[in-house]
Parts: sequence; C-alpha cells; structure tokens
Amino acid sequence: MKIAADEKKKVFLLHTKNTTYGIAIIDDRYVGHLYYGRYLEDADIRYLLREDEGPRTPSVNLREKGAFLDCAPMEYPETGMGDYRESALCIRDARGFRASELFYEGYEILNGKPGLEGLPASWGSREDCMTLKIFCRDEVLGMKVTLLYSVFEESDVITRSVLVENQGKEPFYIEKVLSACLDMDDRDFQVLGLFGSWARERHIQRMDLGYGRQNLASFKGESSHQEHPFLALVTPETTQDTGEVYAMNFVYSGNFLAQAEKSQFDSVRMLMGIHPEGFTWKLEPGACFTAPETVLVYSDQGLGHMTRTFHDFYRNHLIRSPYLHKKRPILINNWEATYFDFDEKKLLEIAKDASELGIEMLVMDDGWFGKRNLDDSSLGDWYVNEEKIKGGLNALVENVKKLGMKFGIWIEPEMISPDSELYRQHPDWAIQIPGRSITQSRAQYVLDLSRDEVVDGVYEKIAAVIRSADISYVKWDMNRQLTTMGSCCLPGDRQGELYHRYMLGVYKMQERLLADFPDLLLENCSGGGARFDAGMLYYSPQIWCSDDTDAIERLAIQEGTALLYPVSAMGAHVSVCPNHSVGRVTPFETRGDVALLGTFGYELDITKLSPEEKALVKEQVKKYHQYNDLIREGDYYRLASYRENGYYDSWMIVEKDKSRALLFYVQVRARANAKSRMLRLKGLDPQRRYLAEEKEYQGNTLLQAGIRIPAEMGDFRSRLVEIREIP
Ligand code: DGJ
Repeated sequence: MKIAADEKKKVFLLHTKNTTYGIAIIDDRYVGHLYYGRYLEDADIRYLLREDEGPRTPSVNLREKGAFLDCAPMEYPETGMGDYRESALCIRDARGFRASELFYEGYEILNGKPGLEGLPASWGSREDCMTLKIFCRDEVLGMKVTLLYSVFEESDVITRSVLVENQGKEPFYIEKVLSACLDMDDRDFQVLGLFGSWARERHIQRMDLGYGRQNLASFKGESSHQEHPFLALVTPETTQDTGEVYAMNFVYSGNFLAQAEKSQFDSVRMLMGIHPEGFTWKLEPGACFTAPETVLVYSDQGLGHMTRTFHDFYRNHLIRSPYLHKKRPILINNWEATYFDFDEKKLLEIAKDASELGIEMLVMDDGWFGKRNLDDSSLGDWYVNEEKIKGGLNALVENVKKLGMKFGIWIEPEMISPDSELYRQHPDWAIQIPGRSITQSRAQYVLDLSRDEVVDGVYEKIAAVIRSADISYVKWDMNRQLTTMGSCCLPGDRQGELYHRYMLGVYKMQERLLADFPDLLLENCSGGGARFDAGMLYYSPQIWCSDDTDAIERLAIQEGTALLYPVSAMGAHVSVCPNHSVGRVTPFETRGDVALLGTFGYELDITKLSPEEKALVKEQVKKYHQYNDLIREGDYYRLASYRENGYYDSWMIVEKDKSRALLFYVQVRARANAKSRMLRLKGLDPQRRYLAEEKEYQGNTLLQAGIRIPAEMGDFRSRLVEIREIP
C-alpha cells in the first residue's frame, strides 16, 4: 500500500520503494509532521511527536499553547497564532487581521494524480502514483485548505502542493502560500544549493546550517541566474555515494523562496514556494488558489542517488515532449557566428557548409524581425525583415531544406521594445507603474501577460510566423527580469497578483504553442540559463543552459545543472575560440566532448573553420550519433569535480542494463611530474566483464581499482572512453 491511513491513530504513512513519509493529526486538530526518510515497516511511530513532553498539546495544557505551536513539527505552519518559525501560509482578512488556524477535517485517497490548473506539474497514471488529500479548515475565515501529497512508489518521489479555497462570505488576501514544509530534528545539516550569475549559472555551493534562516530566493519574476529553486539538506558525511540528502525542487519558473531554518530547539524547517515578496492574492468567496508543486526526494545513498532519482522522475513524469526519447537534430545556431549582422546569404552559406558536415538544422537567432539590427528595438514586431531576409522567410526555409536541413527560429514573445510598432500602438501592454518611468533592461520592457488580450495578440503574431514556413524548432528566449510591477488592468488590491499572473500567462502561451504545433521542438532559454527549471521542462524537453559556451566554464555549469536535471535537457554547443565569454582557447575536441553531455550543436561561423576543424566536426557528428541514445537515456554518475579538486573533471553515463557506458574525463590543468590517475568507475555490474580501450576488465576491478587515465601535456585535454560488456 503506497498510502496507509490509520484512522484510529490518526496517522498517515506514505511509502515509496525506499522511503516513508509520515503525517499525524495532533490533538485531533493540527496536521503534524512525523517522519521523512528511509523506508519504515513499523507503523507505530507516533512517539516521534514527543506529545508527552512539555509543552504538551493545547488540550492538555492550554495555558502553554503558544509554546506548543512554536516547537511542534507541522505540515503546513501558519502566521499569527504562535509559531515564530517561518510560516508557509499567511492570510490577511478583509478587516486587516493577519492570522489563520487550520484544523484537520478529513482526508481522501485517490489513485493517480490530479493536474494543477494552469500550472506545470508532474503527472502519473493510476498505476504510477496515489494522492493523499488532507482537508483543513479555518472557521473564522471560512477557508478550506487542501494539502496534496502524491506518492510515486517506483520513482521514490513525493510531490506536494496546496489548494486554498474561500468558502466564507468575505474576501481575504493570501500574503504567503508556500507549497511544502518539512520539520525535522537537526543532524548537523548542511545546505546545498545552486548559485551563480549571468553566464555562470548553477554552481554548487555547500555551507553549514547554523541557527537562524538561510535561504535561496528570486523575486526577479524568473527562477533566475543567481539562485535556483532547489534546496538540499545534507549530512556532513554526505558525498556522491554516501550520506543522507533531503531535497526539494520547485516546478515553477517565477519567484521562489527555498529556505532552511534551525530553531532554538535544534529542529530544522525546510520550506519551498512562491516568494512572498511582492505577492498578495485576493481570494473572493467561492474562489480557489492553486500553489505550484514541489518535488521531494530523500536519499540515504548520497547525492548521486538523488540526482538519478530526479533524472528518472523528470524523464518519466514531467517532460511531455514527443522529442524526449528521440535524438534531437544537431543544430547550428548563428548567434555567436554573426550576432545581429546577417542576411539570408550569410545564413545559407552557414547552412551549406554545415550540411556538408552532417549538421541537421539551422537556427536563425535574434535579429530577423522588425528593424532589429541591435538589441534596442522591434521586440513585438514579429514580422520578417525582408531587407535582411530577402525573398522572405519561406524562401529561406525552403532553400535550407534543399540542403537537407531543418529550420528553427528564435523568438522572445514576452517582451516589447520601447522602439517598436507594438509599443507605439499599445503602450499600456508593457508592465508599468503609472507615473513612474519603466526600468529598461537590455533596452526593453516586459509585456503584461496577466492580460488575455496581450497573450492572444502576441501569440497570434508569433503563430503566423511559424505557420508561414516549415519551422521545426523554436528557441523561446526571455532576456530581462521583471521590474516596476504594475498592470493597468488590475485593481489596486490585486496588483500583488501580477508576478504569478504573468507566469500563468507564459505557461498559457507555451501550452497553446504546443497544442497548435504538436511537432515543434521547443527549447526554452532566458538570457542563457535564467529559466532552466522544472516548470519549463514541462513545456520543452531542452533548455539553453548558459550563454557561456567555454568548455571549461561549462564544466561547473553542467555539473550543477545535471545535479537535478536530465542531461538530455541541457542545451550545449561547440563554439569558437578565443571564447566569446572568457577569451579562453581550448582544443576543439574538448569543446565537442563537453557539448556531448547535452543536446549537442554548434554556435559558430562554420564557414570560417579550418579544414582540420571541419574534419573534427565530422568526427563529433559521428560521435553524437554513436552515443546520443546512451547519453540521453542512461544513468548519470559524477566521478570527480574540477570545482573541488582544481585539476580534473569526470562523469559517466551508464546504460540502464549496465551493458555499456561512456566515461568522460577532462584534464583541466596539467601537472608537472604527474603519474597516470587510477580513476574508479561507477554504476557498472561488478560481476560482468567489460572491454575498454582494448583491455578486458572485470566490472568489480573497474569499480574498485579503477581505469588508468594517462597524464597528458597541456591544459583542457578531454578523453572519452567507451566501456562495453563482453558478451
Ligand atoms: C540570449 C540567449 O541566451 C542567446 O543565445 C541569444 O539568443 C541572445 N539572447 C539573443 O538576443
């Protein structure tokens, strides 16, 4: 039984293959947290609540109710009644008072998992998962809150979200509505998160959790370059292969808060949800608010197991694209080749050389529309600039197709340039606060996608372009953060809804695009990787990882991204040297090997490559075809991190049946007087025999003693080793 409800003891146990999550009703009213961790067979675990220790529950010791609320482990803590740790829910009523107190009312268990209206969310059949709904009520507000828990037994994943309904007579305001909370005893936890900047996204950072609060957050209107909607609490001994990990990842692309707090009693509260900064939602009687989903993973086998759990879960239960299990066309994108300086002739020259080397799709990046020759105009004017693309889009696409290639196009639908026909026609379509100048960023404003007419107006223009030619792929970009938040169509007491309504508008537009063009391959992007998140993966099977295409910078970016997200989703390209972001010169081979751990493509002027480099492109294309099925579908193991050791980086992909594997090794810095390195492999079957670089090994030898990696002369050298089972 995936979900066991003991009505007498008022205990719910949620079991996955290897984990158990326990909930108990305390004092017949509060929804308390019992346990999350390794699988428990024994259902008799109510003692974990310490109900007999002071301060005892309010029914026994009413005079110390405040003290009880401030230490009891809660499933969904609230503001205003006495729990001074961070709350998950804060309600302001019509009179201005901020408090709520949810009491347990009942539960329901269903097979399968209901969708979340308007939001991306994981999905599963009746066989895959079960859902527990816990109903709670606040009598004063007439508020019903449903806590949703879906249990994916085989995947070892639990998802959480929350519905807030106004069943009262007065409207009230939701000032904070997080999606998940986990109260636990501290185990000297450390916080592990992903941090970065533009062109430096998702670098792993780990730090001790002291008393007080440590959080990762965004209130930029996107999941952001800087901090990521992921939080893991790990024990000090946790490595890739050992130790405990409690992880939360948010299936949402807008503002978020991910927080860990260590209390005076050495308990830890872990929270995730929409960031309360700038958020208020007015809930009229009869209305319901749906909070986005949080995915929970527990591992007692280190970070590597957590990673593979997320990868499988997202491949099996989040990404919907028909391309998920397909080899994606190897693309060449003209951005780093030409920036804005191109015309149809230049694109065809690139396409011609690319097609001769086996590249399968040309992607026309920014600069093909309106009068856009720089980044300072025309967003919103989604018609082809025929001065640049002479003869029009359809003619260009047909000529590219004659070369045997597909065609893809870049768009940035969420934006409007002050210098655009669209802005001159509809200045009110931009997000703005009356009386204030709109903050420009990259010389652009953001469209008010909380308004249906704006979503429809822009969508129709974009759809007309896609319909006008045989377009196989769309790169959906978003190049600035949200500021000066105001919508001319929302009343004053609803302006705090704009961030979330904006996200709902983005999701609506992407859903429509996929419904209207079911064969389209969609790649999301946000000034590089500012929206590489689980929300976006629901719409696109791949996301551009970073504007930094330098192979060495990419090691840390791809390591952090692949900590959670399947490598089949990471947009990764080979670009020219000196690299445009850091000026580094790396071997062409290394650039290819690093980009193989992703969707693979090129981002350079192929017409300018030397004959030697062109020959290498051919080899890389061959490797892609040889290995992509394995890389896309296999299990990912991190062997070493350059970030940690300062010298080398290494990872492996192992086929699910363990019959084949691919080892990647990058010698980032050469060392004088160095011997070869014995690199211990992972994921292979210890009992089987394997062949690697013409030598036979027993699996166990490769796991325990390792494979020999010679020290090479020179920095940035990469090595790819195929390991095959000997039948
Ligand atoms: C940011 C993207 O990450 C780049 O790849 C490129 O598409 C530019 N935007 C175009 O403006």
